[in-house]
Amino acid sequence: MTSITIKRPDDWHLHLRDGEMLEGVIEHSAKDFARAIIMPNLVPPVVTTQDATAYRERIMKALPNGMNFTPLMTLYLTENTDPADVAAGHASGLITALKLYPAGATTNSDSGVTNFENVMPVLEKMAEIGMPLCVHGEVTSSDIDIFDREAVFIETVLDPLRQRVPELRVVMEHLTTKQGVDYVRSGGDNLGATITTHHLIINRNAILAGGIRPHYYCLPVAKREEHRLALRQAATSGDTSFFLGTDSAPHTDPLKLQACGCAGCFTSINTMSCLAHVFEEEGALDKLEDFASLNGPSFYGLEPNSETIELKKQQTPISFPERIETGAGSVTVFDPMYPLHWQVV
Ligand code: DOR
Ligand code: ZN
Repeated sequence: MTSITIKRPDDWHLHLRDGEMLEGVIEHSAKDFARAIIMPNLVPPVVTTQDATAYRERIMKALPNGMNFTPLMTLYLTENTDPADVAAGHASGLITALKLYPAGATTNSDSGVTNFENVMPVLEKMAEIGMPLCVHGEVTSSDIDIFDREAVFIETVLDPLRQRVPELRVVMEHLTTKQGVDYVRSGGDNLGATITTHHLIINRNAILAGGIRPHYYCLPVAKREEHRLALRQAATSGDTSFFLGTDSAPHTDPLKLQACGCAGCFTSINTMSCLAHVFEEEGALDKLEDFASLNGPSFYGLEPNSETIELKKQQTPISFPERIETGAGSVTVFDPMYPLHWQVV
């Protein structure tokens, strides 16, 4: 096959940031994606409907003229989140989901949740109104090995929480383990998961073998090969529980390349080319549309996009910039470490 046409995809987990970084990266999402779930981990975080209204306006202002892109806004769940504000934001159509960061789990997550008892009223309200909770699924205690944090989170936090509020719709964001895949497969209709582009391509060797490569460092950190293979199997299976969330998370190069570098891979620009490569390798190009364009809207109760995009396989490798320049500084583009041939035309 040398050409494939699919419904225009959406990105169910995206960091657009703010200010000059937002201005520098937004076109790379808007080019291929119709909609995206916008992560709220700004400094300070997007915690109220009012914050989200203002952030959405800044996003729309940064969008280049003539580009079509709908940001689906989220609120950052804190122990002070007001259930009434959440319900009003959801009812108005502005707020699509809430994002749960365990305190300290990742970039700008200091305001996250420590005591789940304090957020139960919000979660119960969300269950009642059918509003999804997007979860950064890692425990944060220092005695848990970083490679085990997702599996321990499922067992000790997520499963008890879901048993307590079974009607709550939950998206496990950026799944990275076989345990996560198995849990989502057996989790019923109220549980879905996003999988990133990079976790389908790299395992932990990319970060650590033969030298330390900060541009492959993200959270949750990439795991062993067996986990990458489980993720590829899940993403290419057509199973409606799994859908694309790039977690494209731009940081400037100086912030990545330092003694304590930031977590995040910038993938919005070449995700569709990378995915076509992965799906072709798995003999599953016919499942690319499910993963990138159909399963996400179905979980979120939205219609798929009506437009389509075409990907063509070029004989000679296509090129992406090594890095993009933004007003905030340069951002290195995720390198899959092999030539890419599939191009969105
Ligand atoms: O790698 C990551 N980067 N993982 C996250 O969960 C947050 C993100 C960011 O905001 O930089
Ligand atoms: Zn993220």
